[in-house]
Amino acid sequence: MPSTEILRSWFSEQNSRTQSSVFLRLPEAKMWIRDSIALLAIAVPLTAALDNGLALKPPMGWISWERFRCEIDCDQYPNDCISENLYKRIADELVDGGYRDVGYVHVNIDDCWALKERDSNGRMVADPKRFPSGMKGLAKYMHDRGLKLGIYSDAGSKTCAGYPGSRDYEDIDAQTYADWDIDMLKYDGCFIANEADIPNLYMKMTQALNKTGKQIVYSCEWPLYQKNTEPDWGKIAASCNLWRNYDDIADTFESVKRTIDVFVKNQDLYVKHQKPGAFFDPDMLILGDYGLSKDEARVQMAIWAIWGAPLFMSNDLAKIDEDSKKLLLNRGVIGINQDPEGIMGKMIKQARDVRIFAKPILPKSGSSYSFGLALINLSDGGNPQRVNQTASEYGLTDPRGYRITDEFDNLELGIVKPGDFLAIDVNPSGARLLKAVLMFSTPKE
Ligand SMILES: *[C@@H]1O[C@H](CO)[C@@H](O)[C@H](O)[C@H]1NC(C)=O
Repeated sequence: MPSTEILRSWFSEQNSRTQSSVFLRLPEAKMWIRDSIALLAIAVPLTAALDNGLALKPPMGWISWERFRCEIDCDQYPNDCISENLYKRIADELVDGGYRDVGYVHVNIDDCWALKERDSNGRMVADPKRFPSGMKGLAKYMHDRGLKLGIYSDAGSKTCAGYPGSRDYEDIDAQTYADWDIDMLKYDGCFIANEADIPNLYMKMTQALNKTGKQIVYSCEWPLYQKNTEPDWGKIAASCNLWRNYDDIADTFESVKRTIDVFVKNQDLYVKHQKPGAFFDPDMLILGDYGLSKDEARVQMAIWAIWGAPLFMSNDLAKIDEDSKKLLLNRGVIGINQDPEGIMGKMIKQARDVRIFAKPILPKSGSSYSFGLALINLSDGGNPQRVNQTASEYGLTDPRGYRITDEFDNLELGIVKPGDFLAIDVNPSGARLLKAVLMFSTPKE
């Protein structure tokens, strides 16, 4: 984890730079913003993505880890233990609650599903007490409902919770998952003794999955574990469909903010490597759990949308509150997240405590994009802060203008030209998410 000292000094630099830019003469401010936006628009991918035809948009679904961890005591916790009962009841909630129909189709198992010993053929075995239908039966349950099943293993000798890892068993394990009709693999990185082995261990599984001939989305934790040397991002993007590069998310707003800080700090590097088929993964959505207020939940949703991040909830959909549910099902938010170009949005400026993020999205005309815009107020008190600046200062510089909508509250904010002022209030620890759609023909005055 980067030291808070480094982050603090980085942000105070950002602060002084961006705070003063609010008071700059307009031409100068415009130039600064145009530079950031230009950087967004010309983020031409440096390498090809993993060539398996999958995850062309950020994958969406549900995974057990943050909410259900490694609870294997099904006598005490029959509803919540890691078992087929849990994944089946979540699958039913995804269908009945409308989540599947807006795109949450992956149901992913995390650690603690296997027996501690492999069978006599060296194959992993799902714990028969907790998974009586077997993984193939569970996969069928998902497929019958238009869902997909994901599984979890580890590039080292053991998983983080001490179950069998896939090191030296890559081909057997990949084939086992293919035989079970598994659709996605999350590949952790505990128990790799030597950091120098990490790239090869992850690429071995890329090959092993490919050899099965079955299309399996491949989710890596390679850069998260390669802490002491700079990861080869091009290789990662060519080997994995998505990858974790920062600590596990926890059920707190602090954890969400730490993740945002790390991504903002590295955004110029990251935007170059994200593309359809290859996504940075800032980890699970914790909406519907215990840690986020209604406004804080909007912050996580807004930023995950702007990044074009994979959207994997980890919550109990049977107990979710209405506000979280509405946010998770918001088609406007999901539309920004799922934009087909897969461009990772960036923070473009900060005005007092409000950070402004922009993501180029379709429709576009030539090199002029529409945008998702997120405004995040990281002040933890006071009244809502107002950002009042011209559209061009939000990066909306095309003279044809933009139609602005508020995605959380489903409001039409009207059509703006670059010189028009746009005043946006943002709650403390809250967010606004706007969509600015480029006007293709000049509207009549
Ligand atoms: C395996 O890799 C080849 C070459 O990159 C690719 O064309 C093929 O689609 C891949 N197959 C699967 C199942 O991922």
